[in-house]
Amino acid sequence: MRFRDRLLSETRESISHSGRCALPEEGLPEPLARLWDDVHRAVEESCRRFGETGDIQSGIEYLRKRYVSEKLDGPPRFDSESVRLAYAVSYHPAHAFAYLHLLMRRGLGQVIFGDLVSPPKVLVLGAGVGAETLASLRWMSAVETRLVAGSRFVLVDRAAWETTRASVLAPTVRELWTQHKFVFDEVTSDLSSQQGLDFLREECGHADVIFCPSVISEMISEHSQNQMMEVIHETINRRAKLVLIDHKDPEFEHVSRQWARRFTVLSDGATPGVIIPQPTAWVRSHLLDGANHRIPTKSYPMAWSVLKAR
Ligand SMILES: C[S@@+](CC[C@H](N)C(=O)[O-])C[C@H]1O[C@@H](n2cnc3c(N)ncnc32)[C@H](O)[C@@H]1O
Repeated sequence: MRFRDRLLSETRESISHSGRCALPEEGLPEPLARLWDDVHRAVEESCRRFGETGDIQSGIEYLRKRYVSEKLDGPPRFDSESVRLAYAVSYHPAHAFAYLHLLMRRGLGQVIFGDLVSPPKVLVLGAGVGAETLASLRWMSAVETRLVAGSRFVLVDRAAWETTRASVLAPTVRELWTQHKFVFDEVTSDLSSQQGLDFLREECGHADVIFCPSVISEMISEHSQNQMMEVIHETINRRAKLVLIDHKDPEFEHVSRQWARRFTVLSDGATPGVIIPQPTAWVRSHLLDGANHRIPTKSYPMAWSVLKAR
């Protein structure tokens, strides 16, 4: 079943069961508060439904440790639902929040989407649950509503995130989807493999926006980012934007600067830390409880480059 069909069928149940959780912080701008509320309601409901909180806790510990030793041991693998849900609760909300923060408060939304005359086709490389997709949809629906209906998001990842997205992402975008019909496609493909690079070669030229959200840092530890970037550089549409966005990290910033020399830079920058609101009480008492590295994220230092072909 295509994502948008599952989106409708699976979210009815989840939303009616869960109700609305309290907004995490007073005074947050509406789109950020909505995103935080939506994402937590969906994550909490998905974890409760999965049931095995011990497995999700182990997944969070695995991810926390693996990201610390990523450069030595390689990035984590997302082969099991418990690890994917662990990511959904411990990284996805903070990423979605940080991306939307940058779109709104650092003007990246206007840089990326502001000059588009029609709804974009967005290619997301290393999409995971789809934090950047949520943030982009929230930004577009708040600021450039005309771009939402008819837009198309192609979520590419080497791990099979479909089930996780159906429970975590679908409820949060359902409301938007029923108002403005946009399209999701999901592709499972390893972008360091020949097959993945061939797929990219075919798709890149059709995209208006190519997002690389927190994937380059993972590829750097496997030394596979250059091939992917080379294909993007060869095939990107002249009007398209390439968005490299990741945790602020010297290696990511170095790779980002290297690639920036071959493109026109529309925006680049870094922020010492986007302050992340606290998760819900249930998530804090069952999953991000502070024990064994299961510590909630408080702040994300982020870096980005928005590039265009020369
Ligand atoms: C840190 S997660 C980022 C997920 C999401 N974009 C976000 O910001 O929360 C990185 C994702 O990149 C994917 N990934 C890493 N290397 C990849 C590759 N060679 N090809 C495709 N996906 C890859 C991983 O499976 C993972 O889902």
